[in-house]
Amino acid sequence: MQSLGILGVGELTEKVVRGLRGSGFDGPILLSPRNAERAQTLAADYACEVMPSNQALVDNASILLLGTRPDSVAQLATEISLKPGQHLLSLVAGLDMQTLRATFPGALCVRVMLSYAAQFNESTVVVYPPDKTTQACLGPLGTLVVMENEAAFELATVAACMNGWFYFLLHDLQYWLVDKGLPIDQARTLVLGNLEDCVATARTHPDQSLKALGQAIATPGTFTAAGLEVLNHQPGSATWGAACEVVFDALLNRVPR
Ligand SMILES: NC(=O)c1ccc[n+]([C@@H]2O[C@H](COP(=O)([O-])OP(=O)(O)OC[C@H]3O[C@@H](n4cnc5c(N)ncnc54)[C@H](OP(=O)(O)O)[C@@H]3O)[C@@H](O)[C@H]2O)c1
Repeated sequence: MQSLGILGVGELTEKVVRGLRGSGFDGPILLSPRNAERAQTLAADYACEVMPSNQALVDNASILLLGTRPDSVAQLATEISLKPGQHLLSLVAGLDMQTLRATFPGALCVRVMLSYAAQFNESTVVVYPPDKTTQACLGPLGTLVVMENEAAFELATVAACMNGWFYFLLHDLQYWLVDKGLPIDQARTLVLGNLEDCVATARTHPDQSLKALGQAIATPGTFTAAGLEVLNHQPGSATWGAACEVVFDALLNRVPR
C-alpha cells in the first residue's frame, strides 16, 4: 500500500482524507503541519500522522497531494525538494501543467479536480494526464473522468464550478415553492427528488440525449410544455453560458483563484 502525503490540510483535502478512509484505503496518510489544530483533529479521527515539516512529509510519502491555494504554491515550493519522479497530484484550480512542472522540477505532475462529495465517494474525479497511480489512488472518491489534453481538463474545471452553481438554482426553485406556501423541508424534498428522478433517468438511458429525454416529457399540451415555452423565450442557458465563458477565459488566461 502506497503512502499519501497531503501538502495543505484544508477544506478540500480534509474531505479527500475522509473519502479515502471511507473507501478502505488503509495505507499511511501523512499531513503537513500548518493549520495544526485541523491537522491534529483529522489525524486523530482518520488515523493520519502529522509530520514535523513539509520536507519530512515529502521524504516519507510515495505520493503527494497538493491542496494549498494557488497563491501559496510558490512559497511551498521553496520549502520542499521532491524525489526524482515522485508523484505530485495537484488539486490547485487553474495552475497549469507547465507552471507545475517548472515549480516542482523532476516531479511526476498530475492535475486532479474533485468536489466536496469526495468525502462520501460521490465526486467526479477528473485526472490529467492519464496516470494509473493517480487513478488507482483517487478513483475510489467517485467517478473517474480521464482527460487526454489540458484544454479538456480546464473545461472539466468549468463543469466543477457548475456543481457550485446548481445549488443556487435549486435554492431559487425551492424558495418559489416556499413563497407559495410549502414548508421549507417539503419544498427541498420535492426539488431534490425531482432532480434525482432526472439524473437517474439520464443515467439509465445513456443512449438518449438529455434534450430527447426532456422532450419525451414536455409533449404538446402538457403542463411541462407550457412552462418550457416560457423558459425558451427567456433562455436561462444564455446566462449560464456567459458564466461558463467567464470562468473558462480566466482559466485559459491563468487568473489564479
Ligand atoms: N474548495 C473547493 O471546492 C475546491 C474544488 C476544487 C479545487 N480546489 C482547489 O483546492 C485548493 C485548496 O482549496 P481549499 O478550499 O481546500 O483551501 P483551504 O481550505 O484554504 O486550504 C488550503 C490549506 O493549505 C494550507 N497551506 C498554505 N500554505 C501552506 C504551506 N506552505 N504548507 C502547508 N500548508 C499550507 C493553508 O493553511 P493556512 O490556512 O494557514 O494558510 C490551508 O490549511 C485550491 O487550490 C483550490 O483551487 C478547491
